[in-house]
Amino acid sequence: MTPGLGDNGSVTRDVVLLGSTGSVGTQAIDIVRANPERFRVVGIAAGGDRPELLAAQALELGVQAVAVAKASAAEDVQLALYAAAQGAGYSRGEFSMPKLLAGPDAAAELAAWPDADLVLNAMTGSIGLAPTLAALEAGHTLALANKESLVAGGPLVTARARPGQLVPVDSEHSALAQCLRAGARSEVRRLVLTASGGPFRGRGRDELTDVTPAQALAHPTWDMGPVVTCNSATLVNKGLEVIEAHFLFDLPYDDIDVVVHPQSVVHSMVEFIDGSTIAQASPPDMRLPIAVALAWPDRVPAAASPIDWSSGASWEFLPLDDEAFPAVQLAREVGARGGTAPAVYNAANEEAVAAFLDGRLPFLGIVDTVAAVVAEHADAGGSALTVASVLAAESWARRRANELTTKGPGR
Ligand SMILES: NC(=O)c1ccc[n+]([C@@H]2O[C@H](COP(=O)([O-])OP(=O)(O)OC[C@H]3O[C@@H](n4cnc5c(N)ncnc54)[C@H](OP(=O)(O)O)[C@@H]3O)[C@@H](O)[C@H]2O)c1
Repeated sequence: MTPGLGDNGSVTRDVVLLGSTGSVGTQAIDIVRANPERFRVVGIAAGGDRPELLAAQALELGVQAVAVAKASAAEDVQLALYAAAQGAGYSRGEFSMPKLLAGPDAAAELAAWPDADLVLNAMTGSIGLAPTLAALEAGHTLALANKESLVAGGPLVTARARPGQLVPVDSEHSALAQCLRAGARSEVRRLVLTASGGPFRGRGRDELTDVTPAQALAHPTWDMGPVVTCNSATLVNKGLEVIEAHFLFDLPYDDIDVVVHPQSVVHSMVEFIDGSTIAQASPPDMRLPIAVALAWPDRVPAAASPIDWSSGASWEFLPLDDEAFPAVQLAREVGARGGTAPAVYNAANEEAVAAFLDGRLPFLGIVDTVAAVVAEHADAGGSALTVASVLAAESWARRRANELTTKGPGR
C-alpha cells in the first residue's frame, strides 16, 4: 500500500501526471489545485504540442521534472519555462529549472520517478503501455485513464500489478470499483457498463454513411480529447472499456454487459447474485472519477457537484444496437481470442480514426477497417504475450490499417 492510502487524506500524496495538458490531465490539475494539502504534483509529461501550457503548469505546480515526447519540442518547453518564470516575476537566480526529460521514452522514465507515490496515466493511445509498466515496476500506485495500455497489454499489466496498485479513472470503471465495495467478489453476478450512445444514438447503419468529423466530435454529454470522442461516436470506446473491465475486475466477457443510458448519470452498475443491482450515479463530470482515483480509497470532499434531486429527471436505459454499432461485439470477440488480438483492434482503430479525422475515410469505414484487420490477424492467442509481441502486432496492424484506408477495406 502506498503511504497515505486509506488515511483519509492526512498525508500529502506526490503525483506524476502523464498527459498533463490533455482533457483528463487538466481536470486532474483542477483537483490538485483545490486540494493542495492532499496532492502535490512532482512531475508532468506531454507530447510537446502545447509547450506554453506545459511550461505554465510546471511553474504553477513547482514540479521537479517535465517530460516531453517530441525531442524537437524540448527547447520550446525550456524557452517557454523561462518566459513563464519571467512573466511571474522570477529573476534568473530565483528560478530553479525542473529536470527536462525528452524523447519517446521520457514519459516512461518519469513514470518511474522515485519521489512519486502515484502516477496518473492520462496519455492517449497504446504509447501509454511502456509508462504503465514502468509505473507498476517502480511500485507506484497507478491511476489509469489510458485504457489502451490495458487493452493492448492486459496480461502484462495485470501480471505486474500488486492487489490495489491499479486504480481505474474511466468513469465507468471507477463506478464499478465503487459499486464492488457493496459485496464480496464471489457474490458478483455481472457488471453492466453504461454507454451514452454518443452523438449518433438512435441512428441505423444506413443513417451513418455521411457523418462528418465535426459531427462525430460533438459529444452530447462528455467533453473529451478528439480520439476518445470519436471512439465514443463509433462505440469503439465502449468496446475498449469492456476489455478494460475484463482485465481490471477479472470477470469473463459473458458477465460484462453494456446498456445505453443517454443521460450519462448512472456510470455503471454491479448486479449481485441475490438480484440486487448497485449503481453509481453523479452528473457527467470527469473530475469525480479522477478525484476518486487520486485519493483511493478515500473521497475528496466537494470534488464535483452531486445530483440535484429537487428538479425532476428521467433516466433511460436502452439495449445497444449491435448492427449500427458493431464495435462492442467485435471487442468481445477479440477479447475472447486474447493474445495480441485486442492490441490489433486498438492499433487499427487509432489509424482508422486518424484517417477519418483527416477526411480520408468515411465514418463507417473506421470499424469496417478494424474488423478487416482483426480478421486477417493470425495470432490465435495461444502463446504468452510479451512487450515485443504486442509492439510487433501493433506495427503490423497500423501498416495494414493504413493500406486498407488508402485502398478501402476488402481490397
Ligand atoms: N477525456 C475524458 O473525459 C476521458 C474519460 C475517460 C478516459 N479517458 C482516457 O484518458 C486518456 C486521455 O484522454 P484525453 O481525452 O485526456 O486525451 P487528450 O485530451 O487527447 O490528451 C492526451 C494527453 O497525452 C499527451 N501525450 C501525447 N503523446 C504523449 C507522449 N508520447 N508522452 C506523454 N504525453 C503524451 C498529450 O500532450 P500534448 O498536449 O502535447 O498533445 C495530452 O496531454 C485516453 O486513454 C482516454 O481514453 C479520457
